[in-house]
Amino acid sequence: MSNVIINKETCTGCGLCVRDCSSCAIILEDKKAKIDLELCNECSHCVAVCPKASVSMPDYDENEIIEYEKDRLNIDPDDFLYFQKFRRSVRQFKDKDIETDKLNKIIEAGRYSPTASNRQLNQFIIIKDKIDEVRNSAINTLYDMAVNTDYMKDQPVYQKLFIKMHEDYKDKNIDRLFFNAPAIIAIVSEEKSGFADVNGGIAASRMELQANTLGLGVCYIGFLKTAVALSGDIKKSIGMKDNEEYLLSFVLGYPDVKYQRTVNRKPADFRII
Ligand SMILES: Cc1cc2nc3c(=O)[nH]c(=O)nc-3n(C[C@H](O)[C@H](O)[C@H](O)COP(=O)(O)O)c2cc1C
Repeated sequence: MSNVIINKETCTGCGLCVRDCSSCAIILEDKKAKIDLELCNECSHCVAVCPKASVSMPDYDENEIIEYEKDRLNIDPDDFLYFQKFRRSVRQFKDKDIETDKLNKIIEAGRYSPTASNRQLNQFIIIKDKIDEVRNSAINTLYDMAVNTDYMKDQPVYQKLFIKMHEDYKDKNIDRLFFNAPAIIAIVSEEKSGFADVNGGIAASRMELQANTLGLGVCYIGFLKTAVALSGDIKKSIGMKDNEEYLLSFVLGYPDVKYQRTVNRKPADFRII
């Protein structure tokens, strides 16, 4: 059950929280807001929308709430689209660590992403010290799959890539999996959420854009998910619990590449009905 307190002294009964409550948990009674805590999913919209700051959630840190400032939300839509179009998957990284305050901002962007029913089950595993161990296990796992399974016979491009990845790593110390990035962020979740993949994908996308604002670059590494699915060792070395599902991951670091222009894309496939 959630814990939401409505201050009856300051509540004016304006009804804005009633209108904005996605769970229909708030009603007006004697011109004051009244909440059914059994229905509430702690989305906090009532806290955010109240003109008198009459709603609070004592189980959360109230000091982190920021007041509305119009000018700070004045983001030019064309600049924002330009920024999004310049986002690239980065596969060349500088040998430079990521500052803790930047990492915290990226995690914060993930934390503030929407989740189905506001369940907030995404968990972020930052792989830094263990990156060599994970890389080694993952490259070996992908190689084993490439040479030992029938499944890869239908995937000749990936089969060749995983064999080359292994060869280059062993013979020349070239990292074609994580591209020598200093960190990986893996998003995992308790399995019970049916929307886990979607929640993780939304969080990752926002974290990527936040990273870009900080001069950092990202590349999603689907191959690591493949390796994790095949190797209990990797799960163990990144500290995943038995009830957690690996959703996705991306490498993160300072780009050692500059893009001079945007890329082409297929025309948008959309219909307005
Ligand atoms: C779910 C997902 C998994 C991906 N996995 C990998 C990967 O394992 N290795 C890699 O080099 N790039 C990977 N990518 C990056 C894509 O190849 C890249 O997004 C695509 O080529 C378009 O390039 P852009 O991101 O620069 O626009 C992945 C992207 C997504 C969305």
